[in-house]
Amino acid sequence: MTIRAAIVGPTGYTGLFLTELLLRHPGAALTYLASRREPPVDLRDEFPRLHGRLDDELAVSRPIDPQAIAAAADVAFLCLPHKAAMEHTPALLDAGLRVIDLSADYRLRDADVYERVYDTPHEDADRLGEAVYGLPELFRDQIRGAQLVANPGCYPTAAALAVAPLIHAGLVSADRVIVNAASGVTGAGRKEKAHLHFPEQSQAYMAYGAIGGHRHQPEIEQTLEHAAGRPVPVLFVPHLLPIDRGILETIYLDPTPGVDEARLMEAYHRAYADEPFVRVKRDPPNVKHVVDTNCCDLSVRLTGPADRPTVVAFAAEDNMIKGASGQAIQNMNLMFGLDETAGLR
Ligand SMILES: NC(=O)c1ccc[n+]([C@@H]2O[C@H](COP(=O)([O-])OP(=O)(O)OC[C@H]3O[C@@H](n4cnc5c(N)ncnc54)[C@H](OP(=O)(O)O)[C@@H]3O)[C@@H](O)[C@H]2O)c1
Repeated sequence: MTIRAAIVGPTGYTGLFLTELLLRHPGAALTYLASRREPPVDLRDEFPRLHGRLDDELAVSRPIDPQAIAAAADVAFLCLPHKAAMEHTPALLDAGLRVIDLSADYRLRDADVYERVYDTPHEDADRLGEAVYGLPELFRDQIRGAQLVANPGCYPTAAALAVAPLIHAGLVSADRVIVNAASGVTGAGRKEKAHLHFPEQSQAYMAYGAIGGHRHQPEIEQTLEHAAGRPVPVLFVPHLLPIDRGILETIYLDPTPGVDEARLMEAYHRAYADEPFVRVKRDPPNVKHVVDTNCCDLSVRLTGPADRPTVVAFAAEDNMIKGASGQAIQNMNLMFGLDETAGLR
């Protein structure tokens, strides 16, 4: 069985990485590239690296027509900004497709939180309850049967994988989680923005956005609340790194009494022993070691004076792969009963 896949929004970064992943997937075929562009765009002109790898018929974008996409594909990946994704999702589902949405539109359970965070009403709030949060390491069984998967954000993926097992094992307090994160520039998408131009980014390193007000903070809180069984306040501070891909998060937590470093590491080993894409490291991870892989590398330390110790957890991933398109493929593999690692490395 070959899974037929469509990409809606192939001219952006997540679309490009999904195209590449699908082209080398052993159990899936890319069959439809859907874009709003008029006149249609030849993806080989948009991304010269695709020359010789897309045939003439597939390479030229076609309209975002749910019936035509459903005739050509079993699954649609939405590589669109939030708001645009929920405009297309209902019709794609109604046409019989399974949908993996890479935007934030179906990640938050609560429409009021979505409205506050994204500053726009949710147009498809009734479906929030049926969308499955596509973090396989935590929600694998639900993903298998899902029609609609909300692919997690890049930063929330790393934070959840680093913190959930420690909370779950009762080794850290759920009262305070501080996530200090840095991302490469592809995290901001391909659309031109003056502050992302090379002269602005080169040799630069800065925190950005409203401190404590980033859109990913409620998403991280939602997943950690699931792990803790109660609300977990998170302070999330992102930084922009002048590299093209990769995320590193350094996360500060309060240990519960009597915790030592061996127990922290043991919690990671126990949680991820059978996980193909989470690697527990003795030393703090490095983005260079995860770029172009679907892996999230983790490590954890206990430090500080005995009367005021701090847990410092580390997570590194490729924002374009485990943080976006690779995780979307992992979700597709689960939804269609393929080997979860198919097409990924
Ligand atoms: N970049 C990352 O690291 C990352 C990680 C995780 C999740 N995400 C999420 O994934 C989604 C895509 O991100 P990206 O980085 O690929 O963004 P991007 O590079 O800016 O690409 C956005 C794509 O959406 C299309 N588009 C924009 N507005 C549209 C509309 N109103 N109707 C139809 N198509 C529209 C664009 O087409 P045109 O070429 O016609 O403008 C383009 O193909 C976003 O929701 C983002 O938050 C991104």
